[in-house]
Amino acid sequence: MQQEIQNNKLIIFDTTLRDGEQSPGASMTQEEKLRIARQLEKLGVDVIEAGFAAASPGDFNSISAVAKNIKESTVCSLARAVENDIRKAGEAIQHAKKGRIHTFIATSKIHMENKLRMSEDEVLDRAVQAVKWSLEYTDDVEFSAEDAVRSEMDFLVKVFNAVIKVGAKTINVPDTVGYSIPGVWGERMKALINQVENSSKVIWSTHCHNDLGMAVANSLAAVMNGARQVECTINGLGERAGNASLEEIVMAVKTRKDLFNLTTSIDTTQIVPTSRLVSTITGYPVQPNKAIVGANAFAHESGIHQDGVLKHRETYEIMRAQDVGWGANKISLGKLSGRNAFKTRLQELGIDIQSEDIINAAFARFKDLADKKSEIFDEDLHALMSEEYTSEAIEHYKLIHLKTMSETGTTPHAVIKISENGKEVMAESSGGGPVDATFKAIEKIANSGSELQLYSVNNITSGTDAQGEVTVRLAKGGRIVNGQGADTDIVIASAKAYINGLNKLQSKLERAHPQV
Ligand code: KIV
Ligand code: ZN
Repeated sequence: MQQEIQNNKLIIFDTTLRDGEQSPGASMTQEEKLRIARQLEKLGVDVIEAGFAAASPGDFNSISAVAKNIKESTVCSLARAVENDIRKAGEAIQHAKKGRIHTFIATSKIHMENKLRMSEDEVLDRAVQAVKWSLEYTDDVEFSAEDAVRSEMDFLVKVFNAVIKVGAKTINVPDTVGYSIPGVWGERMKALINQVENSSKVIWSTHCHNDLGMAVANSLAAVMNGARQVECTINGLGERAGNASLEEIVMAVKTRKDLFNLTTSIDTTQIVPTSRLVSTITGYPVQPNKAIVGANAFAHESGIHQDGVLKHRETYEIMRAQDVGWGANKISLGKLSGRNAFKTRLQELGIDIQSEDIINAAFARFKDLADKKSEIFDEDLHALMSEEYTSEAIEHYKLIHLKTMSETGTTPHAVIKISENGKEVMAESSGGGPVDATFKAIEKIANSGSELQLYSVNNITSGTDAQGEVTVRLAKGGRIVNGQGADTDIVIASAKAYINGLNKLQSKLERAHPQV
């Protein structure tokens, strides 16, 4: 896929499962990654960066599972320019129909001197060697110059010349620290394409972080100046302030085709369902005023706007809500749906359950939910399955019973029964509200000493009978986890989320961070 052949196609490289997963507490299980990967494939992304294979055996297995199951998108693993990383990445993608290795090394003085402790010549040699090792596994090799934004132009050109000569097919220019601004970033892309030899033989890519809120603007500036691959994430998830948001890039290119004259392979009606899925799985809520996927993105509050939209939609709307998948949430099942209908709908959603025990347990949960809420939406099923899988995997604590009392003029009180490693324990506590009382009661049992960094409640679908989805972020000893819980009763959802967070803290999974 060379620049000259694909000139008006913008390649969408999604790194939700890798850079997105580097957000605090966003780490995902293999099953969750697979579910998101299937949805990304349905969305039509060209490349799925499924993880960093050398991070841990869990990451390796997740990439391998994604590689085996995804047929339309290219599946990619990140690898530092280190032989072991590259061999792990190569093995992880070996069963992919289309597999890519994305290898990187930092090229800025500040990174080379302080982090890598390598000279320019050593970095240059290693970059070349990394591409050669990668080519032993696939001819689809991407090279990134980490911290390109603060790298000296002459050195960048030298490194890119060298890696292209040995066979890198995609050259990625990252603004690793979110430092650039659009005019400057666009100029840098143009200058690189002009100065690097054989630049028309490769795809130029950009990867921007959002520390100054300009990740999307910078990515688009790079596209205006010749980049034909954008690295981005769903909901802009990612390290620190996040990465460029896929939905904003895709819709900008589509809505302003007059300026970009580019196409993508994205089915935009899958944008909102993908955003919801990523939010449910990672526990990162989407802010209501977020472009494209925020709940208010197409809501017209002011009378003047409403009047205009009713008379002629384009007065205030530049995109149609249904084109990005709003209003597509479907009632998928109801109270009378049987086990087969349940299993079939899960399969249609990309949730392929092999174990009969899991199906039975999930079906029992579904029946409980359908008793409380007559219409079950796809989003409810995703939340239900996330709970089912996490409880299967790591259930040190399990909620058995919760009773809360709150009344105007009295202090709220909670009585909770939990199973701790199979043994039933009870505790009670008062608190500022029923949720506070519940968390305090749980802590009396768990005594975790963790710090509650975030508590958020969102409704999964609309209406007061909707399930509330609660996320808690717990921090302990340098580790951060997000716990999630869903229920039509938000106090019970909160208890489930807290317990889920504690269970994640219990599991001692350690993973290496690629950039540290
Ligand atoms: O931000 C960055 O530089 C990265 C690289 C690994 C591409 O994520
Ligand atoms: Zn990054």
